[in-house]
Amino acid sequence: MKRTLVLLLAAASFPALADRYVVPKHAAFEEECASCHMAYPPQMLDAHSWQHLMNNLPKHFGTDASLDEKRRVAIADFLGKNAGGRKTGVTADAKGNPLIRITETERFVRKHRQIADAVWQRPAIKSKANCTACHTTAAEGNYSDDNVRIPR
Ligand code: HEC
Ligand code: HEC
Repeated sequence: MKRTLVLLLAAASFPALADRYVVPKHAAFEEECASCHMAYPPQMLDAHSWQHLMNNLPKHFGTDASLDEKRRVAIADFLGKNAGGRKTGVTADAKGNPLIRITETERFVRKHRQIADAVWQRPAIKSKANCTACHTTAAEGNYSDDNVRIPR
């Protein structure tokens, strides 16, 4: 009886854990990298991708996100240390070049393949990078489907 309960609990909790990310605390990262968009979980790109992104901040998706060198190095170091992991998968393109968009990684594409183009373009969403539009608990690193609400 006791053993059955443990097995049941293990089976029930595993899928939920698969979509949770620990959001490590880092003051400079939160100040500098969550002003234009949410602070994306460092685990969603591998270290090579973060390095590439952090080396190109003056040309950051059409904006200038440059930082003084001390802050840039501190944040790059933080991202590198927390990068990747079991759930991340490959974050390079077919030629092996590092992707700097989470939304272009194989895992993201696979998890969102059922969402039609027209949905991404809705005024309340606008961009795949706008995670919090649909994932109501993204700020806590919780991407569970129980907490997804796609705006109309
Ligand atoms: C001046 C505003 C600004 C700042 C500051 C900024 N970003 Fe961005 N970032 C953007 C814009 C704009 C995009 C593109 C968003 C889109 O496509 O909807 C973006 C996209 C991204 C993406 C890719 C999202 C995707 O499509 O998967 C990552 C990763 C990212 N930023 C990380 C960072 C990090 C790390 C920092 C801090 C060093 C940072 N950003 C600071 C404006 C900014
Ligand atoms: C248009 C709404 C929408 C946006 C915007 C969006 N997602 Fe999702 N996301 C979904 C839906 C729907 C699912 C699938 C839920 C399911 O499994 O049925 C999903 C699934 C996921 C999963 C998988 C959860 C699991 O069950 O393993 C992750 C991780 C995730 N999204 C991360 C992100 C990140 C990171 C961003 C922003 C860069 C983002 N999503 C943007 C709607 C969205």
